[in-house]
Amino acid sequence: MYIDVKNILHELNEEIELLKSKVSHEPKLISLVVEPDPSTLSYLKTQKKTTKKYGVNLEIIESHNLEEDLNYYNEDKSVDGIFVSRPLPKRYSELDIARNINPKKDVEGVSFFNIGSMYYEEELFVPCTAEAVVKIIEENTKIQGKNVVVVGRSTTVGKPVAILLLKRGRDATVTVAHSKTIDLNEITQKADILVVAIGRANYIKQNFVKEGATIIDVGINVVDGKIVGDVSSEVVEKCEVTPVPGGVGSVTSLILIRNVFRAAINNSI
Ligand SMILES: NC(=O)c1ccc[n+]([C@@H]2O[C@H](COP(=O)([O-])OP(=O)(O)OC[C@H]3O[C@@H](n4cnc5c(N)ncnc54)[C@H](OP(=O)(O)O)[C@@H]3O)[C@@H](O)[C@H]2O)c1
Repeated sequence: MYIDVKNILHELNEEIELLKSKVSHEPKLISLVVEPDPSTLSYLKTQKKTTKKYGVNLEIIESHNLEEDLNYYNEDKSVDGIFVSRPLPKRYSELDIARNINPKKDVEGVSFFNIGSMYYEEELFVPCTAEAVVKIIEENTKIQGKNVVVVGRSTTVGKPVAILLLKRGRDATVTVAHSKTIDLNEITQKADILVVAIGRANYIKQNFVKEGATIIDVGINVVDGKIVGDVSSEVVEKCEVTPVPGGVGSVTSLILIRNVFRAAINNSI
């Protein structure tokens, strides 16, 4: 069965409407794009539509020097939030964003400050996709004491998902797997909740999962011009799975918009 994220989107919509009523100007989001690939272009299309719908002024800027551009927009008082498109070209890493972005404009929650705050369970902005994953899990199943396997250890998805699920009150037992993990399917078969964020189309097949598990498919892959996840479609016969598109990505987009409104409120104080 596919997991429906309608309720979460409804709640986020309500939260955004409330924030909108408190902000005194149209929030401005800068989207920095460095050498876009097909998945980036597809994401930017959605970002344009979503920002327009919610009344966020989006400026897409082609960046040739990420550090310089981050420093410039960090200081620009008319800018509330800064977003950087992924994947980044090889000459950059997540560190370049983490050490340079102003934490108050870091609506993606990836700066040193925001990542550190998450470790201390005192969040300002947490990585949007990780928050989306946790929201979907919380809405659909009990987390406490469950065996959660996260496949992927990126700084923006896998690692923050693991930290957020370990948080006191959520209390999951978390295993994080990656490309060097041996016998991955033996580990994933034990998961009550499986989060897959690897960027490999249809990689997780029926023999990777336990019957009845909750599966969060974070992957966005373009195959023959179509968007597919990391989880193969036949897995829905055994488990509850988030759809791609229309699952984690939709929730992530709204969390980003909500964060832009939060940043705009902070910027006007
Ligand atoms: N829905 C959304 O809103 C959203 C947001 C962000 C990303 N995404 C998508 O999610 C996917 C992952 O993104 P990311 O930024 O986390 O990617 P990433 O930085 O490339 O990280 C991929 C992770 O997957 C691991 N991995 C790769 N192949 C594997 C395999 N065969 N078995 C086990 N682990 C494997 C890698 O292991 P190593 O560390 O050992 O290399 C790495 O930790 C991509 O498809 C991306 O487009 C979706």
